[in-house]
Amino acid sequence: MEEKYLELNKNNWNNRVSGHLASDFYRMEAFHAGENSLKEIELALLGDIQGKSVLHLQCHFGQDTLSMARMGAKVTGVDFSEKAIEAAQELARELSIKANFHCCDVYRAPQFITEKFDIVYTTYGTIGWLPDLDRWAQVVSHFLKPNGKFIFVEFHPVVWMFDDDFNQLAYNYFQDEPIVEEVSGSYADKSMQITDTTITWNHGLSEVYQALQNAGLSIDHFSEYPFSPYDCLKDLIEVEPNRFQVKQLVNKIPMVYALTAHPKND
Ligand SMILES: C[S@@+](CC[C@H](N)C(=O)[O-])C[C@H]1O[C@@H](n2cnc3c(N)ncnc32)[C@H](O)[C@@H]1O
Repeated sequence: MEEKYLELNKNNWNNRVSGHLASDFYRMEAFHAGENSLKEIELALLGDIQGKSVLHLQCHFGQDTLSMARMGAKVTGVDFSEKAIEAAQELARELSIKANFHCCDVYRAPQFITEKFDIVYTTYGTIGWLPDLDRWAQVVSHFLKPNGKFIFVEFHPVVWMFDDDFNQLAYNYFQDEPIVEEVSGSYADKSMQITDTTITWNHGLSEVYQALQNAGLSIDHFSEYPFSPYDCLKDLIEVEPNRFQVKQLVNKIPMVYALTAHPKND
């Protein structure tokens, strides 16, 4: 099972990279000109990261990783997509930004990276690709320095209960089984000519909480937001600048949550 989901999902992510780089969604021209790709929620949680070492898990093609480098951090990005990591390395070269990128499965990262970090960071569309949150939290914990900080921002599990049109509840909140789907296009460009099978998992909030606790982390901050900073789902409307909500569910559902945690050190 593990080999199968990794192969299918990696193929899908490799197929998305060129389309994402060319998409309006990722605003590459503005990024080249110096725009910071990070959004208000994570910027507030990061604060001043000048001189801090940051491990960015599931970094895609490195836009956010390189944004943190521009903010003065020493950055390392990890992603299992070869195409994404090649694009990240190329982008870093083009922009003359110092960054390390590793191509590997999140669960295997401790086999390839020996350093410990001030901040472990992962955001938006990450844990849904992972079957086992205990293993994920152990990886996070493994990489944190004793006084380090974990920063996590993710789409809310309530969002993933709906069908694509947000018209009905299609999935259980408590869904242990993997979701196997044929997906066409991508959130960054719905017209992308790709159709792939993906395997994903819905993880409830208590599962995240328990996994972090089990891995020896203590949660310092937890918040939920009625908006997404990305216009990445069907029929969203911009209720305020860079705050998107589902047209027929404005202020009715949580769309994103964020937390920070630190090692208990007892
Ligand atoms: C939605 S993207 C993350 C988006 C990110 N916030 C950004 O900067 O654009 C999810 C990323 O997770 C990566 N990924 C999925 N499963 C993975 C795994 N098992 N190990 C490592 N990376 C994985 C994909 O290649 C993809 O780049």
